[in-house]
Amino acid sequence: MGPLAVTRLLGLISLTVGLDNGLLKTPPMGWMAWERFRCDVDCKDDPENCISEDLFRDAADRLAEDGWKELGYEYVIIDDCWMSPKRDDHGRLQPDPSRFPGGIAKLARYIHDRGLKLGIYADMGTHTCMGLPGTTLDKIEVDAQTFASWGVDYLKFDGCNSNPAEQMLGYPLMSKALNATGRPMAYSCSWPAYIGGLPPNVNYSFLGDICHLWRNYYDIQDSWDSVQGIIEWFSNNQDDLQPAAGPGRWNDPDMLIIGNFGLSVDQARSQMALWAVMAAPLIMSNDLRNLDSSARAILQNKVAIAINQDSMGIQGRRLLQEKTRIEVFWRPLSRSASALVFLSRRTDMPYVYHTSLAKLKYDAGNYEAYNVFAGSTVTGLNATTEFSFSINPSGVVMWYVYPQQPSTQTETFHEANPGHLPVL
Ligand SMILES: *[C@@H]1O[C@H](CO)[C@@H](O)[C@H](O)[C@H]1NC(C)=O
Ligand SMILES: *[C@@H]1O[C@H](CO)[C@@H](O)[C@H](O)[C@H]1NC(C)=O
Repeated sequence: MGPLAVTRLLGLISLTVGLDNGLLKTPPMGWMAWERFRCDVDCKDDPENCISEDLFRDAADRLAEDGWKELGYEYVIIDDCWMSPKRDDHGRLQPDPSRFPGGIAKLARYIHDRGLKLGIYADMGTHTCMGLPGTTLDKIEVDAQTFASWGVDYLKFDGCNSNPAEQMLGYPLMSKALNATGRPMAYSCSWPAYIGGLPPNVNYSFLGDICHLWRNYYDIQDSWDSVQGIIEWFSNNQDDLQPAAGPGRWNDPDMLIIGNFGLSVDQARSQMALWAVMAAPLIMSNDLRNLDSSARAILQNKVAIAINQDSMGIQGRRLLQEKTRIEVFWRPLSRSASALVFLSRRTDMPYVYHTSLAKLKYDAGNYEAYNVFAGSTVTGLNATTEFSFSINPSGVVMWYVYPQQPSTQTETFHEANPGHLPVL
């Protein structure tokens, strides 16, 4: 079936389905096992890191006890490799009995008891990406019912081992099946990533009707190359992707890898800044039991999180690509505020960048800016005021910009704007 036939059929199906259950009005936040723990099933020699109920209980304990939950990080999400290689006698998926001896329902209770939510993984196809039982079209209903009966709150539905025609039927059917369970569940669709991520193969308007979020592009890996490649692809295709996002419907550039091995401190700030401006899900995949203080500070930065969680839900855009390899990103926020990210794609030394808000298309007026990672404030900015600052190679400067309140022009930021900075 060609892409045109596919999109035409999608139009028909869309009349019959919908998953507008009010979830994910802001991008989901939480933790997922995949990027850091992959398909490690070796609980004998690697008990701390294998995919088991202990790993997810540990993640829940850390989210609940180390200040994450209060910031909004609430989903604990299981990825591939939780399943037994065989369905049970009733055709239902079941967890691997040696690694999940208590079962998923008990794990869900443990997670709910800590004020958190449980996400699980299935695959639209004959097998999951790692070769475990897939969810073929005839299994969609029973799998949705099984997840609901366990108390699951979020489903990541992958797309290995199926073809585009099956996916076109399966993703909307699962949406309908989840809805029919009566249990509100968030629905993450990997569908676009399997069909090139762009129109006309992908109908983003339709996708937004049936899924809360979707993976558009390749899996993230633990390297700056990977993060940079993702930023580049999303920015190059922002005319197609940016309008697709909004409350209850999010593009997903994949997990935050901050706290692992592949990013410097500057690169970790760059990922956090760009994910905040792109209105991306903030789903960490790291070892919360062993996180250094700089990774923790970046992931727990309240202003970066508040920018990501802004209630208008407008995804940001790349505004400028300078010949100097400085790129400027912008996101409009509620209360006439906005976020700016200045990213250096350079590989030499800190670069001194000169600009003004007027050059970045801001209207005339007086502004203040909060430097999100430095924790300092720039006051008395007119739109035409020239300013400059230094950006580290592969690093960012991130600003939260807001109109200056006339009565408070000479005071310092914290005294002057007790209410303006978006504190969670
Ligand atoms: C099912 O869909 C309807 C219509 O979009 C919605 O009002 C309802 O909240 C949904 N229920 C669940 C459990 O998703
Ligand atoms: C895309 O889906 C929407 C429904 O969300 C539908 O109205 C529209 O016709 C579809 N576009 C194409 C090109 O099929």
